[in-house]
Amino acid sequence: MLYLLNLGCRSLAASELQLKAVNKCITRGDFMKLSITGGKFFEINADTTIYETLKANGMFLVSPCGGKGTCGKCQVKITSGGAHVKAYGKLTPEEREAGITLACQTSANSDIQIEIPEHSKLVLGGKIAISIFKDTAAYLKSYGTNIDPLAKRVSLVLPLPSIQDNIGDLQRLTHSLNDIAVPDMGITTVGITNTGITNMRFSHEFVSTLMETLREGGFNVTLSYSKTNNSVFDAISVYPTARPNGRYGLAIDIGTTTVVVYLVDLVSGTVIDIGSTYNSQTKFGDDVITRIVHATEGGGLADLRNTVVGDINTIVDVFKVKHTITSREVEAAVISGNTTMSHIFWGLNPASIREDPYIPTVNYYPLWHGSDARLAINPQAAVYTSPSVASYVGGDIVTGILASKMHLSPGIALFMDIGTNAEVAIGNDEWIMTAACSAGPCFEGGGIRFGMRATQGAIESMAIDPITLTPSVSVIGGGVPAGICGSGMIDAIVEFYKHGIINQKGVFNPAKTPLIREGVDGLEFLIYKADNPQRDIVLTTVDMENLIRAKAAIFAGVSLLLREAGLTLDVLEKVYVAGGFGNSLNVEKAVMFGMIPDLPQEKYVFLGNTSIIGAYLALMSDELRKELETIASRMTYIELSVVGGYMDEYMSAMFIPHTDLSKFPSAVAVLGL
Ligand code: FES
Repeated sequence: MLYLLNLGCRSLAASELQLKAVNKCITRGDFMKLSITGGKFFEINADTTIYETLKANGMFLVSPCGGKGTCGKCQVKITSGGAHVKAYGKLTPEEREAGITLACQTSANSDIQIEIPEHSKLVLGGKIAISIFKDTAAYLKSYGTNIDPLAKRVSLVLPLPSIQDNIGDLQRLTHSLNDIAVPDMGITTVGITNTGITNMRFSHEFVSTLMETLREGGFNVTLSYSKTNNSVFDAISVYPTARPNGRYGLAIDIGTTTVVVYLVDLVSGTVIDIGSTYNSQTKFGDDVITRIVHATEGGGLADLRNTVVGDINTIVDVFKVKHTITSREVEAAVISGNTTMSHIFWGLNPASIREDPYIPTVNYYPLWHGSDARLAINPQAAVYTSPSVASYVGGDIVTGILASKMHLSPGIALFMDIGTNAEVAIGNDEWIMTAACSAGPCFEGGGIRFGMRATQGAIESMAIDPITLTPSVSVIGGGVPAGICGSGMIDAIVEFYKHGIINQKGVFNPAKTPLIREGVDGLEFLIYKADNPQRDIVLTTVDMENLIRAKAAIFAGVSLLLREAGLTLDVLEKVYVAGGFGNSLNVEKAVMFGMIPDLPQEKYVFLGNTSIIGAYLALMSDELRKELETIASRMTYIELSVVGGYMDEYMSAMFIPHTDLSKFPSAVAVLGL
C-alpha cells in the first residue's frame, strides 16, 4: 500500500486527522484506503465495515437500525475498488447494479472509493421543538409559586479568627450557618431552623478552596447550596460577598431524537439562552430499544452516555463563551427525559427496561451533582432528574403533565406526547392514568423507505389533484425533496384514501393511476419523480402498513385508557398535544387518518416541547419540584400489552379512519363515507 500512502501524504498535509491516519498507515501495511468523493480518505481494514470506519472518523450516516442491516438507510455508492458485501437488505436490483450498497454490511477488500449520497448523510441541526411558552418567568408565576431555585444562596459574616477563637475554617463556617437567622427564602423547614441551617455536607473539592476564599472575602462570604428531599443540605460554592458571581441553572430535555437546553438566570427566572441539537446517540440507532441493545450487548453504555453528555456540554460551552459565564457559576440543572434516556445519561444499565417484567433501576432519582453527571458546570452543582412512572413512561411525561396543568383542573383531559414514540395520559386533579403506545419511530422517518425527520429537504405536505391524481408537494427549505416527514406522510395517506388510491386498509388500487407501480416492497405510489430513478420518492405498501400500525397503536392506547377509566371520548374537555410532531400536526388530517380522537378543534391545545418547560419549572421552584413527584406518584401506569382487549382495539384501528365509523363523524362527513 506504500504507493498510495505517498500520494496521501502529499495531498492531505492540511488535515491533522487525515495525517494521523496516514501515519498509522505507514506502520500498519494491512490497512487499505477508503476514499470519499470530494477529497477525504481514511484507512480501513478488512474486518471493519465502511459504516464503522466512517463513524470512527466522525462521519455519520443515517442509521435508524444502528448498523444491523435492516433499515436500508446507510446507502453509499462504490465508484471504484473491491468490496465484500455481507447483505444487500432492501436494495433493489437496479440500486445494486448502480453500485449502491449498505455501508453497515460492506467492508473493503482493496482500496476503495465511495460516494455518499445526500440522503444518507446524518443531518444535525434543523428544526427542533422548544416550548411554546415565550415568557417562561410569567408562566412560572402563573402557578402561584415563588422563585425558589434548586440552588440557593445565603450571605454569612463569620467572626474573625484569633488566638482565643482558633477553631478551624470549616467549623467556623458551620457554626455560622447554625447561628444565622432563617435564610433568604423566609421559610422554616426541616433542616432550616429558626436558629439556622443544620445538616450541611461539604465535598472535598468545596473544602479545598475554603481557606483562600474566606481570607479573600475577609470572612464575609456568600454560600450557595442545595437541599435534598430528606433535608440534607449540600454546599455548592462559597464566594467572597464583595465579589459578585452569577447564579445560573440549566433546564435540559434529553429526547430520543433531540436535546434542548435552557440557560436560566436563577435570580429572575429569565431564560437567557436556548440551545438545541439532535441527540447524537441517533448514530447508534433511532429508537430506545436499539439503544438499549447497543448499551447492553455491545458494551456501548459508555459510548451512549459520552455521546449525549457531549451534546449537552457542547451547548453549555457555547453558553459560557457567549455570556461570559464560568462553569462554577452554573450551580444547578434539571434533567427531563424518558426512562431510557435518563438511565443512559447517568450511566445506569438500562437492560432491565426491556426485559420482562420491565423494571428500571430508578424511578425517583437521588439529587446528584455536576461531577457525577460529567456536565461542564460546577462539580458540586445540584442535578435533579424528573421522576419516571415506569420503564416506558418517563420523566419527560411527568414534566409534560406539570407544564400542561392538567393535574390542576377537575375537568378530564387527555395528554398525548407524539415523538419518537407516543405516550398518553388521561386524568384530572384527582387521578391520572398513563400508557405507552408501541407506535415506533415511523412519523420521524424510521421504517419508512424515504422517511426522514422534518428537516431541510423533507416533503412536509402533499395534495393530489382530484382529476389527474398527480401529487404536488411542499418541501421544507424548497428544492428537490430528499424524503418525506411525518406531516407529509399523514397528508399523503389521507389524500390517497380520499381519491381512492388506497382502500380503508391502505392497500393500493393499481387500476386508479399509473403512478402506482411495482416496486421492491410490492406496489408503491410515485410522489416525486427525480432525475435519478433511484431517488424517486415513493410511499410503498410496507410504508402504508407501518403508518397504519403506528396510528392504530396510538388510537388504541387512547381508547383503552378511556375504557380502563370507564370514560368515553365526549368527557374530554381538553386534548394537550406535546412533542416536536405536535407543533406541525394538522388536526383535521390526523383525525381523518384515525390517529387522534375526532373532537372539536378547539379542544386541542398544542404545547410543543413540554418536557423542557417542565424542567424549567422544576429548576425554579422547590414547590413545583415536589409537585412533579406528587404527579409521578399519582400516575397509574397501564401496560397495554397485558390489558385485556388491547388487540381488539388495535385491530379495529387498523383501518382508515377506523372500523367503527361512529367514532369519526367529522371524518365521515369530509371523506363522504
Ligand atoms: S441498514 Fe445500515 S444502518 Fe440500517
